[in-house]
Amino acid sequence: MFYFANIAYLTILVLLNILCVSTCQSEETLEMVHVIFRHGNRTPDLRSSYPNDPYLNNSYYPYGHGQLTNKGKNRMYLLGKALRERYDRFLGPLYTPNILDPVSTDTNRTKMSLELVLAGFFPPHETDLEWQKELNWQPIPYNYVSSFTDNTMSIPFFSCPRYTLLVHSLHASSKGIEFRKKHSQIYEQFIENSGADNVTFVLIVTTYGTLTAQ
Ligand SMILES: *[C@@H]1O[C@H](CO)[C@@H](O)[C@H](O)[C@H]1NC(C)=O
Ligand SMILES: *[C@@H]1O[C@H](CO)[C@@H](O)[C@H](O)[C@H]1NC(C)=O
Ligand SMILES: *[C@@H]1O[C@H](CO)[C@@H](O)[C@H](O)[C@H]1NC(C)=O
Repeated sequence: MFYFANIAYLTILVLLNILCVSTCQSEETLEMVHVIFRHGNRTPDLRSSYPNDPYLNNSYYPYGHGQLTNKGKNRMYLLGKALRERYDRFLGPLYTPNILDPVSTDTNRTKMSLELVLAGFFPPHETDLEWQKELNWQPIPYNYVSSFTDNTMSIPFFSCPRYTLLVHSLHASSKGIEFRKKHSQIYEQFIENSGADNVTFVLIVTTYGTLTAQ
């Protein structure tokens, strides 16, 4: 079904677990932090384009479709720096493998976002881990699982057939039909301007994402 490709590009969460090991003994309360964030600004995704899209033939060179832009990179890097500021005392300056469990969904833009957040979060300059004076950056590993098996952060169209089934049956249900009837003017406007047919809730969401990116 055509939803599947669109949905891949909604898999936008990046998760960063910060586990406290040794640096937080003086903390009375804080023991663990979970940070969940989206990827940075991106170019429009070809698979979420609509028939009347005036930018349909734009290749978005040199980024490509659905990729993190320089603005998005900067935003993610600044997010890493902001997290450093907030949790500096909790974490201490040194990266050690067990204090952090960075996880991304399986898309380029979320992986790149996570790398940039980690770059801002653990700059090695003037620590024992500084390895290269020209580059205030150190490699930090992260993990991801394929969208087809990710049942935590990815939208479950890939990993859960029952979810897909339920979304389809919601469309066909009297509630779904009633909803579309109630908002028929918006639906008609959407169809007229986008050129799309078979309009679903998901298609509207992904089109909105494309318009925002453009
Ligand atoms: C995109 O390119 C195709 C093939 O060259 C052309 O037919 C179409 O009109 C172009 N669409 C837009 C929106 O520029
Ligand atoms: C990363 O981007 C390239 C180029 O668009 C694409 O071929 C590849 O499938 C992407 N990888 C993932 C995991 O999204
Ligand atoms: C829309 O739905 C009809 C009936 O299910 C199908 O024949 C047609 O191919 C669909 N169109 C698109 C663009 O998916």
